[in-house]
Amino acid sequence: MISTEKDTQSLELQLESLAPYLAQRRQNLAQRFSPAALLWSGQPVARNFPANTYPFRASSHFLYFAGLSLPHAAIHLEAGQLTLFMDDPDPGDALWHGPTPSREAIATAMGALAAYPLADLERYRQNAATLPGQANSPLGSDNPSSPALNQALAEAIVELRLYHDDAALGAITQAAAVSVQAHRAGMAATSTATAAAQVRAAMEQVILAHNMTCAYNSIVTPHGEVLHHQQYHQALHPGDLLLADVGAETVSGWASDITRTWPVTGHFSPPQRDIYDIVLAAHDACIAAAKPGVEYRDLHLLACRTLAEGLVEVGLLKGHPEDLVERDVHGLFFPHGLGHLLGLDVHDMEDLGDLAGYAPGRRRSDRFGLCFLRLDRPLAAQMVVTIEPGFYQVPGILTPARRSGQFDDAVNWERLAQFQTVRGLRIEDDVLITPTGCEVLTAALPTQANAIEAWVQSTPDSAS
Ligand code: GLY
Ligand code: MN
Ligand code: MN
Repeated sequence: MISTEKDTQSLELQLESLAPYLAQRRQNLAQRFSPAALLWSGQPVARNFPANTYPFRASSHFLYFAGLSLPHAAIHLEAGQLTLFMDDPDPGDALWHGPTPSREAIATAMGALAAYPLADLERYRQNAATLPGQANSPLGSDNPSSPALNQALAEAIVELRLYHDDAALGAITQAAAVSVQAHRAGMAATSTATAAAQVRAAMEQVILAHNMTCAYNSIVTPHGEVLHHQQYHQALHPGDLLLADVGAETVSGWASDITRTWPVTGHFSPPQRDIYDIVLAAHDACIAAAKPGVEYRDLHLLACRTLAEGLVEVGLLKGHPEDLVERDVHGLFFPHGLGHLLGLDVHDMEDLGDLAGYAPGRRRSDRFGLCFLRLDRPLAAQMVVTIEPGFYQVPGILTPARRSGQFDDAVNWERLAQFQTVRGLRIEDDVLITPTGCEVLTAALPTQANAIEAWVQSTPDSAS
């Protein structure tokens, strides 16, 4: 193993400001969970031969306590202390990867109690809990009490990761700022772009230039009704709306998640503007209401009612907004939930199913208008959530709904034809819950239709 002084220094620099937070997170875990815990970082996945791997990024639970995205590593946490397990690379690896800091140097920078090779894990494995999803990793245990213990560990980690410390908030804020710039670049690139791919490139260029990565696969498409559309070949035509859901992730792994929808020409048509303003009203109402103690599910229902009110006003829905929401009529056009937790992952901690998103004892509803709600907890200070209402015309939902005749008293299907260019529209921001209300971490990116139009009409140079 070749280790240079310079590499070790840069490692120390990376962790210098984070170290007190890492120590505090380990202590906080010990207060909630007294048995020992083992967390596995993960390993790179080979594409065709071992050295050609998909990009590696450590598990978020590992990152939260370790601070570094190390492959093939485990951490043992007990009584607030961290022990690191990883092998030193083969000396021949330096030819391909350059000099790397030693296990000891990494452990010191992390503030670890001790560091051992992976083979020594065996001694620690039997009595330690690990997360349910890591049972098949090198940490898998035969301990018969492990399912209950593992569940208790997951619950303790959720309790910590729901509420962000200042280091986490600083990183999320940095990611958010870069995502804002990326969206600005995407808007400015649209006037000369002929395909979605060029707008995506302009956006991701900003993220890469800041030495960040995308927190998830970008969605940049004139077919926003395909909720997770991830192809970029589509041509852009005058009259199209372009939906861009693009977010940066910092080197330390903290995410952001922004969606804006803009007209390719820089001018919303009147029907597009009507729907845009309705979705914006839902977005703004939720942000105005977000504060500690408010149920996220109630924010979702507020968004649904606001959308229903607006759609009644423009003659697309018929009836009383409250009744329409009771019947899940809003779900025909807004089939997903209002948003989710944000942190080290977009959809933070969803590797644990609904354990983080749903308060203890709560279960997903089977109602069509609520079943995709990913977050059903009271809001509390230091949580970060997304607020992302939308309007979509999904043929797979609307065609059978129309054919069934079941919604003829509630939907003006003829009027809907006048909104055909609004295929998919979403406005998404990242919101920190503060002690008295909330702060929109992505507020530097405008939401007002006029401001969006002005940014799309700007040139790429003036956007940088
Ligand atoms: N970017 C994925 C989402 O907004 O949920
Ligand atoms: Mn989101
Ligand atoms: Mn998103």
